[in-house]
Amino acid sequence: MRKVTLKAIYQHPITQKYVRRSGMAHAISVAYHAFGLAKEYDVNPDWASKAGFLHDIGHYEWYSDGEWDYQLYRNYDIHPIKGAERAHKLLVRLGEDKLAAKEISHAILFHTDSALPSGNYELSPLQKVVHLADEKDKQPDNLHHYRNIDSLKELLLIEELDKKIELILSEE
Ligand SMILES: [Fe+2]
Ligand SMILES: [Fe+2]
Repeated sequence: MRKVTLKAIYQHPITQKYVRRSGMAHAISVAYHAFGLAKEYDVNPDWASKAGFLHDIGHYEWYSDGEWDYQLYRNYDIHPIKGAERAHKLLVRLGEDKLAAKEISHAILFHTDSALPSGNYELSPLQKVVHLADEKDKQPDNLHHYRNIDSLKELLLIEELDKKIELILSEE
């Protein structure tokens, strides 16, 4: 039995503030991609979906003079680190299983190599799934961060994914 649903995460004010900042439609779509990849990589579909949904929760707004400043972002962004910590705190606060919270947080930390030292490193299957799910949703000029869907549709998609996860877990 899952301790925390995607719906509970989605509805939390922290999620609404920070996930919305980097794009709720992108977050939901990465959650779906991660769920889809979970079986192939033999990872927990619940953890994959949650990590996919929360992967960009660490974004900061890099604006100068009202315009998004890519140079500032490239030079100073630490969103995987910030996101790993923020998601972990949120999940624990919601009552998530401690191992799940740790694994999800690590997958967020490693979803992009911007927080990693250069060289060869081996990602765990869950970390790989979240990275690939994010890649699948990327659009030119970072348009994936600006896509919008109406909030009723967001909630329906989240509830739908919760049902899919529960169904798979009940079959295991
Ligand atoms: Fe990201
Ligand atoms: Fe992303």
